[in-house]
Amino acid sequence: MSQPRVYIHEVVTRDGFQMERVFIPTPAKIDLINRLSRCGFAKIEVTSFTSPKAIPMLRDAELVMGGIERVPGVVYTVLVPNLRGAERALDVGADEMNLVMSVSESHNRSNLKMGREASFEALSKVIAFAGRRVPITISLSCSFGCPMEGTVPIAEVLGWAGRFIGLGVSGITLCDTTGMAHPAQVALLAQAALTLNRSPEFEWTMHFHNTRGMGLANTLSAVQQGIVRFDSAMGGLGGCPYAPGATGNICTEDTVHMLEAMGLDTGVRLDGLLTLARELPALVGHEVPGQLIKAGRITDLHPMEHLS
Ligand code: COA
Ligand code: ZN
Repeated sequence: MSQPRVYIHEVVTRDGFQMERVFIPTPAKIDLINRLSRCGFAKIEVTSFTSPKAIPMLRDAELVMGGIERVPGVVYTVLVPNLRGAERALDVGADEMNLVMSVSESHNRSNLKMGREASFEALSKVIAFAGRRVPITISLSCSFGCPMEGTVPIAEVLGWAGRFIGLGVSGITLCDTTGMAHPAQVALLAQAALTLNRSPEFEWTMHFHNTRGMGLANTLSAVQQGIVRFDSAMGGLGGCPYAPGATGNICTEDTVHMLEAMGLDTGVRLDGLLTLARELPALVGHEVPGQLIKAGRITDLHPMEHLS
């Protein structure tokens, strides 16, 4: 019998890089994406077509999206906040658009400079404009809690998800923007999500940040409920500059290592990914939170004399 399949979306060059202080040169971004493309990811979130003033690190979105080699089978998706972003993304032939809004009014105002209803209106227009040309997914920020408002009720999250599903989007990503989710909460929201839309073609994705060390526990909880798609960032980089206290995404190589050890098939070639992950500190100029590059895999055994 084949192993259960889990799909990993690598977001290091978007979520991972967007809060880095020192600009990562465009050729280095392109080279990294080209090498990530050979690691077996289902999707790569390449960049974001946001305002260059809001996210200066990703001001080279056109150059990056236009400069990469596309490997068949990999979906090259991009984050888009508004109609202007959608036009830019279509111009360079993005495979998919990941539109973003927050289920928290406060976070939506700080991140996107408008209220949630205004965002829904604006994104509805983007879907009407671009939805016939590319699949559209929606990332709902703060789905597991907001650093300014606290708890967000499940009914609120599902309400927004349901409205977007009504507009024909191909998937919804439930984002734990500042690592407030815990495994019991994840199980409840995963069950509720899968009850709202159980179609096998519909893509529910979970997007966890490891801010409080619960990221892999949350991933496991979601897998146990039947969620099969996860965003993660190599090295555990990441975070939203407009969410107080945001830190890194769950680390891709740590996540893949855990899921594969449990007998799940992620499609990701861990050897190639680890080679890239080991080069990441030099690229960003600091240590990264990922643990596997420090500890090695559980199958990497040590000679006995080193254990004394
Ligand atoms: N791409 C490029 N430029 C854009 C743009 C886009 N998608 N959207 C707006 N702009 C530019 C405008 O042209 C304008 O430029 P100008 O000052 O030179 O005239 C400027 O940005 C302000 O435009 P405005 O429509 O008033 O936007 P805003 O200041 O209200 O910002 C967003 C709204 C959504 C565009 C901006 O806050 C943003 O890009 N946020 C991204 C948030 C994000 O990615 N967070 C992390 C991931 S969740
Ligand atoms: Zn994120």
